[in-house]
Amino acid sequence: MPVQLVLGAQWGDEGKGKVVDLLGEVSDIVARYQGGSNAGHTVRFDGETFILHLIPTGILRPHTQCFIGNGMVINPDSLLEEMKALEERGIMVSGRLFISQNAHLILPYHPIIEKVSEEMDEDNKIGTTGRGIGPAYADKASRVGIRMGDLLDLSLLKKKVSQNVRVKNLILEKVYGVQGVNEERILDSLKAFRDKIKGSIIDARWRLNEEIRKGKRVLLEGAQGTLLDIDFGTYPYVTSSNTTIGGACTGLGIGLRKIDRIIGVLKAYTTRVGNGPFPTELEGSLGEEIREMGGEYGATTGRPRRCGWFDGVIARYAVQVNDVDALAVTKLDVLDTLDEIQICTGYRYRGEGLTQFPSNSRILEEVEPVTEVMPGWKEPISGVREYGDLPEDARSYLKKIEEIVETPIRMVSVGSSREETIWL
Ligand code: IMP
Repeated sequence: MPVQLVLGAQWGDEGKGKVVDLLGEVSDIVARYQGGSNAGHTVRFDGETFILHLIPTGILRPHTQCFIGNGMVINPDSLLEEMKALEERGIMVSGRLFISQNAHLILPYHPIIEKVSEEMDEDNKIGTTGRGIGPAYADKASRVGIRMGDLLDLSLLKKKVSQNVRVKNLILEKVYGVQGVNEERILDSLKAFRDKIKGSIIDARWRLNEEIRKGKRVLLEGAQGTLLDIDFGTYPYVTSSNTTIGGACTGLGIGLRKIDRIIGVLKAYTTRVGNGPFPTELEGSLGEEIREMGGEYGATTGRPRRCGWFDGVIARYAVQVNDVDALAVTKLDVLDTLDEIQICTGYRYRGEGLTQFPSNSRILEEVEPVTEVMPGWKEPISGVREYGDLPEDARSYLKKIEEIVETPIRMVSVGSSREETIWL
């Protein structure tokens, strides 16, 4: 498959990092197309753990080239830190990382604006990662954002920074009553960033299309998940980018017909970080038990993730929105010790059955999940490598997911390391 897309089919944290890392072995290029350092893609191999925030997970495969697409928002300090941390651990980054000239920058005023606006309205807090993602995308949409390519023209950069700082400081000081930011300091650090990074800034759209034309194997790496999509997620409790399939095209500048296979990643249960509706959430001790067993703490913020049963309604919705043709199911082993497992097949809303995902978040907040109870397999499965060697109850659980979602499972992850994987 020349061009494959891996994206999250829940609320993020589905285990995309591991799936991308595995497919990275047979890819020449790995490209990210949306989000920024709000993401945390975890990969484990040879007893080491890597968490990637901005740089595509493919960087861990020495033969790949990695692209940061125009749809992403980049915090310069986070990028430099991540590059340095990887190089210190023996992962070559320079010469392998290419950044779109049209990707936007996250500047110091973005996280501050986000923090004060979240604090101002406690009742309607989104529960963001605090990385300034929303304000940076807001500037992009308002056409005042600063892009990677602007770093290459110092007088233009100075003008844009100056205009932004003037307006942002008015907002910070007059609306929120907090201290503004220092223009000179921002400019100096952007110049230092430019000196380190300028060789990596390219016309990524052209280059990627050329590589695809030449038959290179390209892997597109989604961040967050379908239900966090700005259009199709549980708005307003979403991130600020298109995490769904369209984001891959607009965030890289490639046509939809170039994508040969779309892989949706689903965790064997559901989690969500931050606020917003979550119909299958388990609020009691069982939810906590799953959180502990699954190590469900944010890879970026360390926040505890909310945990719940597998939700077939959102999974079906994600498959439709993204035209998913294969599923990867992760963290099946986390359910090893449970006596029984519930799986949500539909919702009940004010006494009526719903099988389709309600686009209205208010309805989603009120629905109750309709679940089927399935027996647990009650044995460790992390050592299993063949589908046929899984306990019968584990196979029945996977079959049930396939049946509800009407899409075949092609990969099952039974542990965090590369080898703890079953291919179907
Ligand atoms: P933001 O992307 O930081 O603006 O956060 C908006 C919402 O998306 C919050 O609920 C975050 O917890 C959630 N979110 C953002 N990035 C991730 C992620 O990588 N995994 C899971 N949730 C995320």
